[in-house]
Amino acid sequence: MGVREGTLTLVHLSDLHCVETDDGECIQNRFEFGDLRPNEWAIHTINVIQAQLPEAFVVITGDVTNSGTKSQMKRAAELFAPVADRTLMVPGNHDKNPVGQGLLGALKRFSDPRGDEWWRLFGPATCKWLDDDQSVFQFRACDHVVIYGIDSTRGSEKTWAQGEVSDSQLDALATNLVRSRRQGLRTVIAMHHHPFIAEGLPTELVNADRFRRRIKGLADLVLFGHKHNEMASHRDNTLFVASHANPIAQFPKEGLEPSDPGQHGFRVLTIPRTGDIEWHWHTY
Ligand SMILES: [Fe+2]
Ligand SMILES: [Fe+2]
Repeated sequence: MGVREGTLTLVHLSDLHCVETDDGECIQNRFEFGDLRPNEWAIHTINVIQAQLPEAFVVITGDVTNSGTKSQMKRAAELFAPVADRTLMVPGNHDKNPVGQGLLGALKRFSDPRGDEWWRLFGPATCKWLDDDQSVFQFRACDHVVIYGIDSTRGSEKTWAQGEVSDSQLDALATNLVRSRRQGLRTVIAMHHHPFIAEGLPTELVNADRFRRRIKGLADLVLFGHKHNEMASHRDNTLFVASHANPIAQFPKEGLEPSDPGQHGFRVLTIPRTGDIEWHWHTY
């Protein structure tokens, strides 16, 4: 899947914040998506991936739903069903720790602290779990690429917004990254939270420094989201990529309306067996 002439094509999406109905009201959506209706970006994007990128593998770095409710998870699962067999997701704070749900959110956190319900619907169908608690997994995307997914939402209530990766998660991750490197594989890490300082809101991982130290020299690519900004930069021979909730619309081209062609899109990365990982915007 996704491999042509030894190169994996990978679509990176994040923070879709799907809600239960496509024509309902959603404050988060209004704030993030301008004049798009709820779920519209998700629907467009899935249609484009189906029609134009039939070979691409898809990674979604969390906040798949806006509030993690049963009805939102159900709708999100329906939306992604057409590409589910080539999509890998990790949860975000909105998926696991329902925002704006008051007592219901607290009850969910209490009754389902690991987010088993989310994992059942959106977790990988086949993967190798690297810890007993099922919070780090390894997924072989193709012959030459292995993707490590981490649940960065398992910290305390205080760290849900920032995210946290525990020492045991890091041990499991680092040990296996070393193994993958020895096997000559390209390594990708997917998680929700920021692995370094992000300005403004305190939304970097609580233990971001430790995370970066442990993966130094071991990861080719780190994919993340959460802060709803976008970036791609190299640090210590690793390409760090954050995708926005709706990248292109947030940087409108002069003279174009959000509904015009070319105003929306997502990042597509190509990972060869050897050599540089490259990326471009796929707009529509
Ligand atoms: Fe988000
Ligand atoms: Fe988030």
